[in-house]
Amino acid sequence: MKLWLIGAYGIVSTTTAVGGKAIEKGLIGKAGLVSELPQFNGIDRYANLSFEFGGHEIRDLDKSFYDASYEHWEKNRHFEIDILEKVKEELASRKAMKGTALNCGTGIQEFGEIQTLEKEGLTLREITDRLMEDMRKFKDDDTVVINLASTEPVAKISEEYHGSIDGFEKMLDEDKKEYATASMLYAYAAIKNKIPYGNFTPSVGSSIKALKELAIENKVPHAGNDGKTGETLVKTTLAPMFLYRNLEVIGWMSYNILGDFDGKVLSHRDNKESKVISKDRVLEKILGYSPYSITEIEYFPSLVDNKTAFDFIHFKGFLGTKMKFYFVWDGIDAILAAPIVIDIARFLLFAKKKGLYGVIKEMAFFFKSPMDTNVINTHEQFNQLVEWFKNNL
Ligand SMILES: NC(=O)c1ccc[n+]([C@@H]2O[C@H](COP(=O)([O-])OP(=O)(O)OC[C@H]3O[C@@H](n4cnc5c(N)ncnc54)[C@H](O)[C@@H]3O)[C@@H](O)[C@H]2O)c1
Repeated sequence: MKLWLIGAYGIVSTTTAVGGKAIEKGLIGKAGLVSELPQFNGIDRYANLSFEFGGHEIRDLDKSFYDASYEHWEKNRHFEIDILEKVKEELASRKAMKGTALNCGTGIQEFGEIQTLEKEGLTLREITDRLMEDMRKFKDDDTVVINLASTEPVAKISEEYHGSIDGFEKMLDEDKKEYATASMLYAYAAIKNKIPYGNFTPSVGSSIKALKELAIENKVPHAGNDGKTGETLVKTTLAPMFLYRNLEVIGWMSYNILGDFDGKVLSHRDNKESKVISKDRVLEKILGYSPYSITEIEYFPSLVDNKTAFDFIHFKGFLGTKMKFYFVWDGIDAILAAPIVIDIARFLLFAKKKGLYGVIKEMAFFFKSPMDTNVINTHEQFNQLVEWFKNNL
């Protein structure tokens, strides 16, 4: 597989790159990979576990995947250093290409000096041409693009420029930069190149009508949004229990604290809004009603990539009696996310090779805000993925 990662030097991207190469070399096991479950036997024929990495970035472009991986490792120590050293050669020879940060909000100021195509004075059309060219040079039949860049603010969507592919092309030609966000430009570049595209972030990516239309026209599979790896995974696995037992959830509080770059970017209100919306929608969709709900995400520097979520659930049972349930989730974000990134890429390649295209709704299992489906219950999503795979194998 050739994975083109947007946000190539972030912790999820670099952990994916280190883990991918380590799996390929047989240095580590396959824990965390959904696609390695017995239910998905046979996926190897469509997407085997050998890897090449490339991607777009907006900082440290003189550095390599290895340098970026090492910097994250130094802060987080999230795996044994031996593993990184054993894949050093491959990662040191790989560098990311310059991307765009159009309308990415105030959060990315946290990265200091950024290097972007728009700073070269390029028009929207020229920017997308450059993104496409970089992907084109890298791609082969086994390439997938995954968006792993920092979360953008909620995009300003207009029917005129985002409602159809003609409108989108017009936006590019007329250089209407105020309507474009980086994630849609990357998604456009991927789909235009006929490369399957996965959006691991809550940013808009390929979820606008224009790009869904382009994906159908170009017969490209795509999936998103926002990887479901931590508190939301637990929430959407647990909430169905209340539903099945006919227990009424009166209120659900989720309080998340996290450090690292992701936490820093999300401490900016405009960038955070996208994430809160993405996390907040799930309960109503599972339960069929909206309990009182609080979803908070706060920056807590010393935690680095360890994310802690405190959840408090107030629920009502027989005779109207109220009861309480609490849980604490202590996850290491990148360790939970990286195998899922590989899974998303594998299932998208499977879809492509089976001639399936457009939004792959059956991949909802991997996302907090899955596109074009209301199936949010993790158990149902898993069954759907298994059935879909079996029926198309
Ligand atoms: N478990 C998880 O870690 C998890 C789960 C769901 C979603 N996500 C999302 O995945 C994304 C990556 O998370 P992370 O922890 O690796 O964050 P990170 O801050 O470590 O990495 C983000 C990277 O993207 C780069 N970047 C920012 N804007 C860019 C742009 N416009 N173009 C190209 N590169 C850009 C940054 O320089 C940085 O290297 C975030 O949006 C996060 O919300 C993560």
